[in-house]
Amino acid sequence: MPRLDQFLASLGYGSRREVRSLIAAGRATVRGAPAADPGEKISDDDEVQVDGQPLDHPDGLLLMLHKPAGLVCSHDAREGPSVYDLLPPRWRRRHPPVTSIGRLDKETTGLLLLTDQTILVHRLTSPRHKVPKTYRAGLDREVTAAQAEEITAVFAGGTLVLDGEREPCKPAELRWRDPRSAELILHEGRYHQVRRMFASRGCTVVSLHRERFGPLELGGLSPGAWRELPMDFFSREDGAGPGDGKPAPAVHRGKQIHPRQP
Ligand code: URA
Repeated sequence: MPRLDQFLASLGYGSRREVRSLIAAGRATVRGAPAADPGEKISDDDEVQVDGQPLDHPDGLLLMLHKPAGLVCSHDAREGPSVYDLLPPRWRRRHPPVTSIGRLDKETTGLLLLTDQTILVHRLTSPRHKVPKTYRAGLDREVTAAQAEEITAVFAGGTLVLDGEREPCKPAELRWRDPRSAELILHEGRYHQVRRMFASRGCTVVSLHRERFGPLELGGLSPGAWRELPMDFFSREDGAGPGDGKPAPAVHRGKQIHPRQP
């Protein structure tokens, strides 16, 4: 059981010191009574409030974000504006931190999952968990029908070894939409994988968008907006998530970020 001050600090209510002064000011209640002891042990059943409000996501966060272009998936401020800048300040102060499940490149757009559940990050990024991810790639040039066929066969073959690697890529499905764009389904996630796979066939990816992650798709989410998912979304047997009869969780718009020009 965590201490009250530790618990509130982990949910982003401030540093341990800030949380202790919040408690000293009588702003926190436990089971309806003002909390006096910052070291009080809190159990799952205890109703804790701050400023008369229930706690902000005490059981964790799992979000589906439509990542806009120009933001990095990094907590290092030196890398520029990040997807985390879109989130409310309290969520950015949580411990463990809210982090992405896998990464998308700065210029890649589309479906990105964010969570503070370290176990879920490990589970869904582990090579053993072969969750399919669907990307739409735009190329710098048109390919001929014969080239398209060759590229499709190479990607499906499970023998393509990327520059600097030893292990071949797992078989991937490629569906051409037109001579310069295609949908690619990967069952793994390597560094710049889509761009490097096409580069191995002499094509440069000029636009990249992740359309699906496992059973999830963005639907009507606009760039910069996110939707909360139930914490047990990926433990459900059907993995169906929202759309199982429960109302869809609300959509939130992140604050406007103006990515720095390169
Ligand atoms: N593959 C890439 O090359 N980039 C991404 O952002 C994701 C997959």
